Amino acid sequence: MELIIIVLRRSTALFATTAIVLLIGSGLVRNGSETNGSSAVAQEAQVATAGALTSCTVPRLVRRTAVGPGPPKLTEAEIVAAYDCVSTYMAVAYARSNHETAAAYRSWTRFSRTAYPAEAHGARFLNNYANEVGRDAYGKFEGVGTMPTGSVLAKDSFIVTPAGAILVGPLYVMEKRTAGFSEAARDWFYQTIKPDGAVRADGEIQKFCNDCHRRAGAVDDHLMFLPLRYRKASTSD
Ligand code: HEC
Repeated sequence: MELIIIVLRRSTALFATTAIVLLIGSGLVRNGSETNGSSAVAQEAQVATAGALTSCTVPRLVRRTAVGPGPPKLTEAEIVAAYDCVSTYMAVAYARSNHETAAAYRSWTRFSRTAYPAEAHGARFLNNYANEVGRDAYGKFEGVGTMPTGSVLAKDSFIVTPAGAILVGPLYVMEKRTAGFSEAARDWFYQTIKPDGAVRADGEIQKFCNDCHRRAGAVDDHLMFLPLRYRKASTSD
């Protein structure tokens, strides 16, 4: 536990330059027992639960003597190796939730060629998956219209510290409920599954996620997709 705090204290300081990371990071990792304090200790505890330590590393960064600010840039080969290694830890971490998406999503259609770096959910590397009900519609990307009821989109994440350690990040889930579930959210139900297995699906999280996702508008059904260069040319595999 001590090790986790030390590593994360370091990354917290370095990530502090990106305000959105802290903003979103703390918003996403908070759960009922952690909402009462804004002290540094409480914040550290929040960040600590955002990532679960693994023995995976990015060797090039571990060997570096100078550690720069912010999340590091990785080569495609490094991203692939990182995801390969961290996948085992993700499976164990997300399974703690007993959530059916956690158990199933790796057998769904993956839309990212490799994990990709993005800031919107905290500075993380992410993948997008869609279940069988949603995959054909999601694969149309921009202009998708309205995704069918029962579509589930899952986005796993991992964090790479400036010193090359790899942590499991949350699993983000969007599920299309029946028409009328929430007009404001176009019937999307948002959930986060933290690496310690805690699931958040309360009203606060619905608002938090929807406030950003709704910017995509009705034409994209509140979906944001993923950067073009990380999209798979074919999603048949
Ligand atoms: C600040 C804006 C922002 C917030 C807040 C946000 N998202 Fe996203 N979300 C995005 C963007 C941008 C993408 C697509 C690219 C990416 O991964 O960054 C995305 C993609 C997704 C996807 C893949 C489906 C899609 O839209 O293509 C899921 C699932 C998802 N987000 C879940 C969530 C959940 C759950 C929350 C709340 C806990 C959340 N998001 C909060 C911006 C946001």
